[in-house]
Amino acid sequence: MTNMNVNTKKFHRLVVNWYKKHGRKNLPWQQGISPYRVWLSEIMLQQTQVTTVIPYFEKFIKRFPTIQQLAKATLDEVNHLWAGLGYYSRARNLHKTAQIVHQQYNNKFPSSLQELMLLPGIGRSTAGAILSLSMEIPAPILDGNVKRVLSRVFAIAGWPEERAAQKRLWELATYYTPAQQVKAYTQAMMDLGAMVCTKSNPQCIHCPLIKICQARQLNQINLFPGRKPKISLPIKSTYLLIIANSEQAVLLEKRAPVGIWGGLWSLPECQELKDLKTLLKQRYGLLLKKHQAYPNFRHSFTHFHLEITPVLIEASLGPKHQIAETNRIWYKETTNQLGLPKPVSQLMRRYAKGELTWQK
Ligand code: ADE
Repeated sequence: MTNMNVNTKKFHRLVVNWYKKHGRKNLPWQQGISPYRVWLSEIMLQQTQVTTVIPYFEKFIKRFPTIQQLAKATLDEVNHLWAGLGYYSRARNLHKTAQIVHQQYNNKFPSSLQELMLLPGIGRSTAGAILSLSMEIPAPILDGNVKRVLSRVFAIAGWPEERAAQKRLWELATYYTPAQQVKAYTQAMMDLGAMVCTKSNPQCIHCPLIKICQARQLNQINLFPGRKPKISLPIKSTYLLIIANSEQAVLLEKRAPVGIWGGLWSLPECQELKDLKTLLKQRYGLLLKKHQAYPNFRHSFTHFHLEITPVLIEASLGPKHQIAETNRIWYKETTNQLGLPKPVSQLMRRYAKGELTWQK
């Protein structure tokens, strides 16, 4: 195989020696290491930066010191603690995996790659991280940081998510994963990507791999890893309805378990304002008295942008009002503790502060 001409022993020595001097050793999940703590942190870190994750990790560990406690919590509570971290399918999978590990594995994570990868939310790289970081079992990882380091050191062309580039990167990650000191090596590769081999302004002069880095030798650091082919995301739009009762509590509904904001509590939605009156009457048994739209704002998901227009509603209870269902509640920020999507909690905050009122 080409490109594997760098001696593996030398590669490890360079990387691990750098880690001993400069790597991160004080992250919360590196203290009292256990598969549970490593798994929880890896799931949180999948799409989110270390500085954002730290307070969430600490909050979770405080509330759920063991996987058994997490397994026994309600999904609502897990969603509430997760609120603000985004990508909420991670919270659902976290809860499911905790229940499987509790029920089928007696609260102990399995120690094989295959079994770990069968657990919801755990892909090949996360499974590798759990094995290497918490059990010292050699298994490669290939997260965003490691993809960047390997793409540069071995000048792998193409966007790392493309099949060919990804296959090549997994081959390299596997080839260079050592049989010993795999925990230090794995953390070192992540840290190199996060601290030295950064997306912009990489600090090559501080890099232990500078002498073998092919992108550097080609003077083409900026060309690796290859960029994602640009596609513009579709824009969808929706109205979020703020329907308050006489106690200033706002009507929230629990969303379907899958899809965007799956399982979270959210404001009722309406696609077209002309349907507002009918929707309120048919779905909630409410009689529309007046409404007022506020300026829209954008919330972006991975696959589309959502233009949200908040609409303040005054309605009276009709003869067949149907608020008292288990998936609907009157929500007050101060009393209810629920997982809300970020734009919804922002709107609730604005409403509680009196920023969304009737304009004359
Ligand atoms: N990103 C993913 N896993 C990480 C870890 N263990 N330490 C720092 N950043 C990470």
